Amino acid sequence: MTEVAGPNADQIRYWNEIAGPKWVALHDVISAQLRPLGLVALDRAGVAAGERVLDVGCGLGETTLEIGRRVGPGGSALGLDISAPMLERARAAARAAGAVNVAFERADAQTAALPGPFDVLYSRFGVMFFAEPEAAFANLRRALRPGARLAFVCWRSLPENPWLHVPAMTAARHLPLPQPDPRAPGPFAFADAARVREILARAGFVRVHHEPIDRELSVAGGASLDETVDFLLQMGPTSAALREANPAPELVERLRADVREAIAPYHGPEGARMAGAAWVVTAAVD
Ligand SMILES: C[S@@+](CC[C@H](N)C(=O)[O-])C[C@H]1O[C@@H](n2cnc3c(N)ncnc32)[C@H](O)[C@@H]1O
Repeated sequence: MTEVAGPNADQIRYWNEIAGPKWVALHDVISAQLRPLGLVALDRAGVAAGERVLDVGCGLGETTLEIGRRVGPGGSALGLDISAPMLERARAAARAAGAVNVAFERADAQTAALPGPFDVLYSRFGVMFFAEPEAAFANLRRALRPGARLAFVCWRSLPENPWLHVPAMTAARHLPLPQPDPRAPGPFAFADAARVREILARAGFVRVHHEPIDRELSVAGGASLDETVDFLLQMGPTSAALREANPAPELVERLRADVREAIAPYHGPEGARMAGAAWVVTAAVD
């Protein structure tokens, strides 16, 4: 069992015991999907040679390594995450790449005493899981120098993301879908731009800007239709519904067959391609 404490104890348990091992196993397919969106946010961050960058919720460290390349030997990238299995993989990737300007720390972004000061705060889908987002961003802001920039990418709402919505609606024909508070920590917690603007303003950020990104996503890289369905059953609300209901194997098979039928029209020689909708949020510190 993972030792967990503090306001984000549920998420710490989840990212260590459930999601972390899953993300490690599915790294290649997840990376094929998220990489282009993460790069848009990184470009908007305008990371330059020599800068010190904090990558929040860095997961397997793919973006931290990319930042390390962009800042060069005179700069540095620190990846922060709560998930031990994900950080283990991130550290191995950094060693394999010989990246000497990249480091990782296991800590809760909401409560940790962070080093700094950093020039840039960056995140690829790693900032929607805080129990108290305003406190978390205030803590992160304290680690930034005056004039620092923030750029992160987060999902817009579930219905705007058919790659998760189609499987979830199909699963709902078989199982009760969990109906969490839309503001509760989770992938869609930052879908409401007005809410995020308020959180960031209260945490001391200025010039908050939301850029909508609408992309056809490579859902699971070039995976076969069956592999894509396996992947989708492990993601988002469909995965949560299966975990909570723990249904009999026959029901899972029927659900699986229905999801397969629903995804088939989107699947071609390059794998499944479906629409995805994200925000790239930028802000600054005066
Ligand atoms: C959706 S994953 C994204 C991972 C990675 N950025 C990527 O794009 O592949 C969310 C990440 O945020 C991390 N996370 C969640 N809550 C956190 C917190 N309070 N402090 C630091 N990291 C956190 C999780 O452990 C996980 O690695």
